[in-house]
Amino acid sequence: MNRTQVAIVGAGPAGLTLGQLLHRAGIETVILERRGREYVEARVRAGVLEHDVADLFEQAGVGERMRREGLVHGGVELQAAGERHRIAFDELTGKSIVVYGQTEIVKDLIAARLESGAPIHFDVDGVALHGLDTDRPHLEYDESGGRHELGADLVAGCDGFHGVSRSSIPQGVLREFARDYPYGWLGILASVAPSSEELIYAHHERGFALLSMRSPELSRLYLQCAPDEDVSAWSDERVWTELQTRLGLDGWTLHEGAILEKGVTPMRSHVVEPMQWGRLYLAGDAAHIVPPTGAKGLNLAVRDVHVLADAIVAWYASGDPTLLDAYSETCLRRVWRAEHFSWWMTTMLHRRPDGEEFDLRLQLSQLRYLRTSRVAATALAENYVGIERV
Ligand code: FAD
Ligand code: PHB
Repeated sequence: MNRTQVAIVGAGPAGLTLGQLLHRAGIETVILERRGREYVEARVRAGVLEHDVADLFEQAGVGERMRREGLVHGGVELQAAGERHRIAFDELTGKSIVVYGQTEIVKDLIAARLESGAPIHFDVDGVALHGLDTDRPHLEYDESGGRHELGADLVAGCDGFHGVSRSSIPQGVLREFARDYPYGWLGILASVAPSSEELIYAHHERGFALLSMRSPELSRLYLQCAPDEDVSAWSDERVWTELQTRLGLDGWTLHEGAILEKGVTPMRSHVVEPMQWGRLYLAGDAAHIVPPTGAKGLNLAVRDVHVLADAIVAWYASGDPTLLDAYSETCLRRVWRAEHFSWWMTTMLHRRPDGEEFDLRLQLSQLRYLRTSRVAATALAENYVGIERV
């Protein structure tokens, strides 16, 4: 049986970042990924990096292109009741965010992995985890027509919400906390210069809309829809008309362009506790999901593996398991802060399908409070750029 120190399941942002951090610390890892490299590199998802997460990529040696091509934003716009108001992150917190696509970070991390020569296996099927409650766990997987075995000291479950790691933990060990929302997001990627320098989060009676971007030539836009919305019911023309209505403001023009990608994401909150069982450590979407309104999913995934990498390094260096034992508790403090922030942003900005007027009044009051109170705006800003100590 082949052996490694840390077996990593999943080559999303969590698995790849963990691989990079451990490689730089001289710890051996093997990454097993179900999909092909091209598929993983093309999957359009998140786009906003917290201030400290951008710094972490730089410290991990994969920040060069991000610093060159990423768009540094000192704030976002909130729009409601026909008014647009800037939340100035830089002024309120001294921090900013970096708009840089998850696809780009994933490409940079894969390039670094391949260059390092550390093993990464794409197109691997049937991953199974064994002996997790012993000190000699091992994995089985199918590759190139054969079944393989890999022994490890530790296993990192970085295989997302639908992965195999979480479900390898026996029934009754984990507590699950979940909320489904009656909303989805219809997202598009469009070949047109962004019509705003910064992101616009818009509350509208027809539903939430978001203007974001990927580069000076690429816009990313979202519309609130039903969680099971049929994307084929949305012609390009219908998408642009709806975006014009929800984002529209006198004296401002939303520029349209060719739509390159279109998809629907349902919104949910989900957390499992603890994020560890035996020698298996869950990280990122494998352990928790947030609705995308707070732009936290990718950031949380990276923060988890940062904590995990430090704990693993300390364990190998001294045999002291204190940080590893504290992993779940340390991460869950940040996870729950992000869960609250994402739920709060979602609840404040989305139109309820039942059209409940009481909730609408609460939303408008809260949005007005954010416009008029520096304290309220600072709380939003602090959460959005990423809280240092949770
Ligand atoms: P993932 O990125 O899901 O990576 C997990 C990896 O594991 C994948 O490559 C998968 O193929 C692999 N895998 C799964 N099962 C197995 C298996 N059995 N064996 C081996 N490998 C396996 N967040 C935002 O902040 N903003 C957004 O706009 C946004 N949009 C999103 C849209 C969609 C459709 C989804 C699903 C998520 C979105 N997110 C968004 C969330 C954000 O992208 C995630 O939080 C982030 O990708 C988490 O990274 P991860 O590495 O934990 O998981
Ligand atoms: C994105 O650019 O994809 C994006 C930005 C902000 C969010 C969610 C998604 O809150």
